[in-house]
Amino acid sequence: MYPRRPARDVGRVRPGGAAGGGTAPGVTRRDHHGGDIYAAARDLSCSPSRLIDFSASINPLGPSKRVLRAVAKALPLTCHYPDPTCHDLVTTLASSWKLDPVHFLIGNGSSELIHLLPRALMIRHALILGPTFSEYERAVANAKGRVTYLHATRKDGYRIPVTQAITALRTNRNRFDALFLCNPNSPTGQVASSQDVLDLAGMAARRKVWVVVDESFAEYCEGHSVLGSVARAPRLMVVRSFTKFYALPGLRIGYLVGPLKAVARIRQFQAPWSVNTLAQAAAQAALEDRRHAQRSLSFMHRERTRLAKALSVIPGLHIFPAAANFLLVELPAPLEASHVTQALHQQSLLIRDCSSIPGLNGRTIRIAVRTTTENRRLVGALSRIVKGRSSINRV
Ligand SMILES: Cc1ncc(COP(=O)(O)O)c(C=O)c1O
Repeated sequence: MYPRRPARDVGRVRPGGAAGGGTAPGVTRRDHHGGDIYAAARDLSCSPSRLIDFSASINPLGPSKRVLRAVAKALPLTCHYPDPTCHDLVTTLASSWKLDPVHFLIGNGSSELIHLLPRALMIRHALILGPTFSEYERAVANAKGRVTYLHATRKDGYRIPVTQAITALRTNRNRFDALFLCNPNSPTGQVASSQDVLDLAGMAARRKVWVVVDESFAEYCEGHSVLGSVARAPRLMVVRSFTKFYALPGLRIGYLVGPLKAVARIRQFQAPWSVNTLAQAAAQAALEDRRHAQRSLSFMHRERTRLAKALSVIPGLHIFPAAANFLLVELPAPLEASHVTQALHQQSLLIRDCSSIPGLNGRTIRIAVRTTTENRRLVGALSRIVKGRSSINRV
């Protein structure tokens, strides 16, 4: 029964009414994500290390050396249970954000927290600002809730539709009890200002609607974060990850920041010891290494500009401006995202085919910004495909 409408035809919420995009309660869909190097390696009968992964947007400089040393040092502790409260990490986070530790909950990746939220807060109908990460929808559907999408449009350069969301919440005829927003958004790369998000959270609070802001990529544009405002916003939840900027996807660690009572309730739903010892040590060391963070930011700023410029030279490619460590790219017709992704896959280059994401068209791909050499290789391969000098097996 899912999707009720074809994914690319999901409607927008117009003032006064929701259009399309509902999921039936309890119906879930498993979307594929980027970063499955193991499946790709099996498919190509090669080692995962032979692949260049542009499909998951991970800091190309990798974790800092200090993090790797901290993990090595913590190894002997793996014969004990991890600290169930993640005390040291929570203390560090709370002091760096100048918030009380009671506002923080550490999770097994931000995904765990995203999945706990709808169950703990009993979310029945969520408004999702799309096109975006698919796990919000899955999480709500798994908790027997339903979702409605309010999509940014291609015409608007996929600008996050915050104003329309405020309008939708003002009357709240649809009886939303939560709203999910990813800022900066994946896969579009667009970012809403912190003031806009706070205005949205203000309206949501008046309507008793939770606002969940996924800031998994916010380290790339901290000025837009609303995390520091959590103590003053009664219905605001912010989710963060150590996966992207700190390059720790394999360790699984993220955190949630929200109002005291709600955080305490979400904690009740979490399995014990869900955050392992190595992940806690790594996250703690990652936060302490300011030099690596600075180096990562400067590198990304330079390299994203360079990659966007190199891609823009390929005839017919449209590159959207981005605030994080990836670029949303639209291929020229008649090329299709799925065929181009497959052709690059054959060359061990993994990119994210975005054609199945509700709200995006079939020519949309997402490319992570990687090292200069790797980016050059991708630009060369993509250029040959677009110019028809490299074969595409149409299936
Ligand atoms: C926008 C967004 N949020 C959250 C996640 C989940 O991250 P993790 O569970 O690794 O912290 C992802 C992963 O791709 C993502 O793209």
